[in-house]
Amino acid sequence: MRLIAHRGASGHAPENTMAAFRLALEMGAQAVEFDVHQTKDHELVVLHDVDLKRVAGRKAQVRDLTWKELSQVDVGSWRDRAFAAERVPRLSDVYDLIQGKAELHLEIKKGTSLYPGIEERVVDLIQKRKAWAATVVSSFDHAALYLVRWLDARARLGYLLGLTPMRTAYREMAEIKAESLNLSVRQVDAGKVRACHEKGLKVLVYTPNERKTLDRLDKMGVDGVFCNFPELMP
Ligand code: G3P
Ligand code: MG
Repeated sequence: MRLIAHRGASGHAPENTMAAFRLALEMGAQAVEFDVHQTKDHELVVLHDVDLKRVAGRKAQVRDLTWKELSQVDVGSWRDRAFAAERVPRLSDVYDLIQGKAELHLEIKKGTSLYPGIEERVVDLIQKRKAWAATVVSSFDHAALYLVRWLDARARLGYLLGLTPMRTAYREMAEIKAESLNLSVRQVDAGKVRACHEKGLKVLVYTPNERKTLDRLDKMGVDGVFCNFPELMP
């Protein structure tokens, strides 16, 4: 079972920051997950939420800020003053650091309905960096996954289940040629793992952070886990 460092080594450093990604690599993570949004001036940026409330105590929405404005915001202090220098990374910064060292699980948080053109920009970056072999694009926004597939036949796709019924999910995963079903610890069970494996799909589970849960999922046949603590690597 593969451990994917969820938002970097986010159990130890502020999520989705260069500090969290550096630490994940130092701890030996073979794969790293992060979330992608888009600024007002179309910069692809890495953070989890659509706004800055949780990580910076500000109401501002990412889509209403320019990259210059966003790049000045401290997104580290909320975890610890030692991280006060951390800023929202650009997607290109994250690739500069991780590509060639670990697999990249790039989650598009919202597609073109909120961020016009985000799928094209993500695909363009991956193409220019010749990074498809090392990248899996995932999203709860399945329209975004359809668009990524349409843009590039080489795309590797992870289907984040959300509230979609399983019948629909299996159909859509086949249509977009997804390589994995990504679902929560609460949603996963042995039947889904078996059904996915029969269809040639991997199963990736977020976000188990305890050894006993990891052991249970490993026994269930789960292929990978998004985990905040890379040291729990099985
Ligand atoms: O991609 C797995 C996981 O990151 C999905 O949930 O909310 O942590 O982005 P979330
Ligand atoms: Mg995520």
